[in-house]
Amino acid sequence: MRNSADLASALLVLLAVFIPSAAMGEDTPTPDPWDERAISAPLERGDYSGTLTREKLDELTAIGERLFEARFTTLDGVGRPMATQAIIPTKRRRETRLEFQRMAGMDAASCASCHNDPVSGGAGDFVANVFVSEGFSNADFDSIDPQFSNERNTNHLFGAGLIELLAREMTVELQATREEAARQARAKGETVTLPLQAKGVSFGSITVEADGMVDLSGLDGVDTDLVIRPFSQKGVMTSLRQFTVNALNQHHGMEAVERFGARWTGEIDFDQDGKGDEISPGDVSAMVAWQATLEPPVAATPDDERWREASATGDALFDTIGCSSCHIRALPLSSLEFADPGPVDAAGTLRGDEDGDVAIYDLGLYDWAARLERNDKGEVMVPLFGDLKRHRIADQKVAILGNELLAQRFVDRDVFMTGELWGIADTAPYGHRGDLTTLDEIIRAHGGEGSQAARAYEALPESDRTALIAFLKTLEVGR
Ligand code: HEC
Ligand code: HEC
Repeated sequence: MRNSADLASALLVLLAVFIPSAAMGEDTPTPDPWDERAISAPLERGDYSGTLTREKLDELTAIGERLFEARFTTLDGVGRPMATQAIIPTKRRRETRLEFQRMAGMDAASCASCHNDPVSGGAGDFVANVFVSEGFSNADFDSIDPQFSNERNTNHLFGAGLIELLAREMTVELQATREEAARQARAKGETVTLPLQAKGVSFGSITVEADGMVDLSGLDGVDTDLVIRPFSQKGVMTSLRQFTVNALNQHHGMEAVERFGARWTGEIDFDQDGKGDEISPGDVSAMVAWQATLEPPVAATPDDERWREASATGDALFDTIGCSSCHIRALPLSSLEFADPGPVDAAGTLRGDEDGDVAIYDLGLYDWAARLERNDKGEVMVPLFGDLKRHRIADQKVAILGNELLAQRFVDRDVFMTGELWGIADTAPYGHRGDLTTLDEIIRAHGGEGSQAARAYEALPESDRTALIAFLKTLEVGR
């Protein structure tokens, strides 16, 4: 009797402590306006699984937008005194003296601190550049010397969901060709070489010998696993989810449970900042949902008649001098259903097939999707002005874009993914380092595989060069 009475009064005390704080917003993902936290309770993914209605999607993306713009604090888990910015959870050799510093990071309070031009989710000025380094051994570099990191300018995220969907479909196409080559080689008992194409973009060829040995020496502009990695200007990041988990750690010391939590590292507080389980899979999902559903840029039709005329001339030149061989105007997309977690991520980023809680965001629910053109097969034409392929873009004569010293993930220093030009009118400065102030300069900076087109541009009369730029200036973000 006495014991249960004790228990009851203990429970009352507990309730007295917890009820008021619940009323303060303890249990809702959205903190009170005066709360110094960005996250007051982890978001449950279960509430947002399966195919989401537009209403549910709006709820989730609103949370994602808030997190993208939130200035994370130490109360949320900012700080990684004993972990580096590396993608694979890596301990520092010794505790850092400077927790915030512009080079190896942490370097910002929020995602939108860099991605804000012309609006949140946008690109960034030179001042928002990031010093990208895998950071395994020299995690504590505090120099902008290019021997420690590759300096990159911030790109915009509009239409990012469509880009990832294109990449996923292209991956399926390339991997199916590998299977087909293997099948034919086995059936015929001889070596088979097949061209590797996805959505009309050529990625070289693949050869399979009769015994099943695969020869990848014919690959061009894609990784050996034939996964198209559409993110980062290097074309080495697979998904918005992977990028978000990387960025949260690099810029903010916010360690996502799905990568830095007990499952992979065996530790709750891997970065040893005194806070464990810093950002939940649900919160990462909300951030991904917001990015994946961002409206794609659409080309503007200028009111100014002179601009309209010049732009029409430039539009045609864009094809005739060969720009559109890499900056392909639009690629066809079969399905607008964005699954998160996605199908191809590596360990440390949740993946759909090992995860019960897959959510489907139907981009077709958005008004902007109806405005995108469709081809005769009913596929949505995504007007990205890119090919999601990597190219050598510098040579000895034109070396401006060959300015990095570190290879990233086995990709040569002077090889980059074709920049997507949708939105280019609103995202100066240009080039992967953001150190070129005009479109004329970045066009002239193309060397390597882009040399022929760039030299053709240089050979044009000035009025035609201006017309080409007048065309590029219609490729607005559209907000
Ligand atoms: C300090 C500036 C900065 C901050 C803060 C920042 N980013 Fe970025 N972001 C960049 C830069 C620079 C790139 C280009 C990286 C490259 O090309 O290697 C980029 C690229 C990206 C990309 C790939 C876009 C593409 O098309 O290739 C995504 C996605 C992204 N950021 C998401 C985020 C998220 C989510 C956050 C917050 C957790 C964030 N970023 C915070 C600077 C920043
Ligand atoms: C061989 C493929 C290829 C061809 C052809 C090509 N480009 Fe590019 N383009 C690229 C790559 C790769 C980049 C990324 C360069 C970098 O790393 O900064 C790029 C970047 C750009 C950018 C800057 C994007 C940004 O966000 O800063 C512009 C503008 C551009 N190209 C316009 C053109 C024009 C105009 C032509 C025709 C004269 C052309 N390109 C021909 C591959 C190509």
